[in-house]
Amino acid sequence: MQLVHTIEDLRSALRPFNSPAFVPTMGNLHDGHLNLVRSAKPLGDVVVSSIFVNRLQFAPNEDFESYPRTLQADCERLEQAGCDVVFAPLEKELYPVPQQFKVHPPGELADILEGHFRPGFFIGVSTVVMKLFQCVFSEAKGPRYALFGKKDYQQQMVIKRMVQQYAMPITVIAGETQRDADGLALSSRNSYLNERERAEAIQLSLALRTLAREALAMAEAMPKQLPALESRAMHALAARGWQPDYLTVRRRTDLMPPRTRDATTPESLVVLGAARLGSTRLIDNFEV
Ligand code: PAF
Repeated sequence: MQLVHTIEDLRSALRPFNSPAFVPTMGNLHDGHLNLVRSAKPLGDVVVSSIFVNRLQFAPNEDFESYPRTLQADCERLEQAGCDVVFAPLEKELYPVPQQFKVHPPGELADILEGHFRPGFFIGVSTVVMKLFQCVFSEAKGPRYALFGKKDYQQQMVIKRMVQQYAMPITVIAGETQRDADGLALSSRNSYLNERERAEAIQLSLALRTLAREALAMAEAMPKQLPALESRAMHALAARGWQPDYLTVRRRTDLMPPRTRDATTPESLVVLGAARLGSTRLIDNFEV
């Protein structure tokens, strides 16, 4: 496996290949990332991963400075998972001057849920992903693949829409969320949890599962009853000491609230949640 730090070295490393399969990350890797790398292996003729903690997607009050930087351990794990090239640029390589051109995803998708509670987050994500795509795919002549986890459900939707609307010749693949034995979704931020919080953390997924079950049980009455169900789910979590941002049932197509739930036009749904436990903000979702 080759580790490169500059765009020029990345392009030279990829020049002999036609068809990169790319897994962008911010490092501090867990099995969710490694699973994406394993899924990338049969797709392209070279598997590339990037490790870059992207300042643009963090608000000033968020954890940019304290985000764990574990390059050596990450590289060992990536190599074992079958990665061929790791791109780990310094900030001044990717942003040699303050980034003035930015990708602004449509508000109807990017200003709701995560975008509402983390204003500017999807501008930062879309901009860096666009830039990473330019670095990774510029030498490619064959099919190009990019893999993102469904744990960040809204993120993979924003990226898919960006790729589609900019007519980028890239197939975006969303990998399933990996979970610990108790069901907690793997996340780089789980390492912030203390022992007591780690034991409690599963309650977010349990609350989402309960909300999904209750919502489905309402059949046609669901769209009308949903706000009350969602607010009950948030109160239950708050009573356990959490600070929930949202727990909600949405359509998988556009993350809007469901409009119908009858047998002739069933909508595919996803239940999504974000809540703070102590100082750690956790997110999770399930397709239902
Ligand atoms: O999901 C992440 O780790 C990041 O948002 C990404 C896609 C690598 C962009 O910085």
